[in-house]
Amino acid sequence: MQKYIDIVNEKLNEFMPIDYPHKLFKSMKYTVTLPGKRLRPVMCLESCRMFGGNFEDAIPTACAIEMLHSQTLIHDDLPCMDNDNYRRGQLTNHMVFGEATAVLAGDALLTFAPQIIVKNSKHLGSEKLIKILEEYFHAAGAYGVIAGQVVDIESEKLAGNFDPEDEQLPELLNYIHTHKTADLFKLALRTGAIIADASDKQLNAITEFGQYMGVAFQIADDILDVTSTFEEMGKTLGKDEQEGKLTYVSLFGLEKAKSDLNSYICKCFEILKDNNLKSDIFEQILNKIRIS
Ligand code: IPE
Ligand code: IPE
Ligand code: MG
Ligand code: MG
Ligand code: MG
Repeated sequence: MQKYIDIVNEKLNEFMPIDYPHKLFKSMKYTVTLPGKRLRPVMCLESCRMFGGNFEDAIPTACAIEMLHSQTLIHDDLPCMDNDNYRRGQLTNHMVFGEATAVLAGDALLTFAPQIIVKNSKHLGSEKLIKILEEYFHAAGAYGVIAGQVVDIESEKLAGNFDPEDEQLPELLNYIHTHKTADLFKLALRTGAIIADASDKQLNAITEFGQYMGVAFQIADDILDVTSTFEEMGKTLGKDEQEGKLTYVSLFGLEKAKSDLNSYICKCFEILKDNNLKSDIFEQILNKIRIS
């Protein structure tokens, strides 16, 4: 895993120039190169390897997905969204560069990332390239992470007024988690698999895996917002309750969140086993989410 992380960090640095206007490019590069866990690019590279591809072919796509993820973080932290001052252990983008530049840097990353794919993956052939871009635009846009973020923000209105009998709330929460988080996990896994020429059956399996893993990851993030520390997470915690967020913890309580998290993780291991998919790296990531 560390080998992948080192390659991704090196390539991200290389792919992000400081061109004119310098303030814009500095702002874009700032959040992308802060020390994130690099989970999504690692998942993209590992999916490619696991399905018999050459992981090096997936490096531009893996880095582009990390740029897209960084974009979602920059906008997620804005005062009009979650209003956060720290990210990845440092000041958030808008705290350093100002709100206007942070908004524009996020916009710029959203289009810069697929340009990186196109510029650096021509050897994959136009058919595969179009498939990868289709995946990117679907996950990045109004059917993907943006949909999840809109409903996440909308749900703040329900703060303190959850009706435990309301059967629609678990569905609403699942919609938020699916789109704001699992969609980028599925993007990483599916593009890695597409680059490796995985079969439709394999693509379906890795998509189901990404769905469970993404939701598990968000449940863990919701739990850690209550139980962890700034030192551990590099961001201000306790914010979900303060902002009245609909989270796994606010809806179901800490105990059920913990036990459901474990069920989701078990389901992920099952999917790997049932489909004869072998990956030490995916097992390591799952175990990390579980114990956190
Ligand atoms: C944070 O993602 C956003 C969520 C989906 C909870 P990560 O926890 O992967 O953030 P970094 O990339 O390590 O900063
Ligand atoms: C963020 O969910 C998901 C995206 C950034 C798309 P959160 O708002 O819970 O993430 P953190 O806790 O700020 O990292
Ligand atoms: Mg948020
Ligand atoms: Mg947030
Ligand atoms: Mg959170």
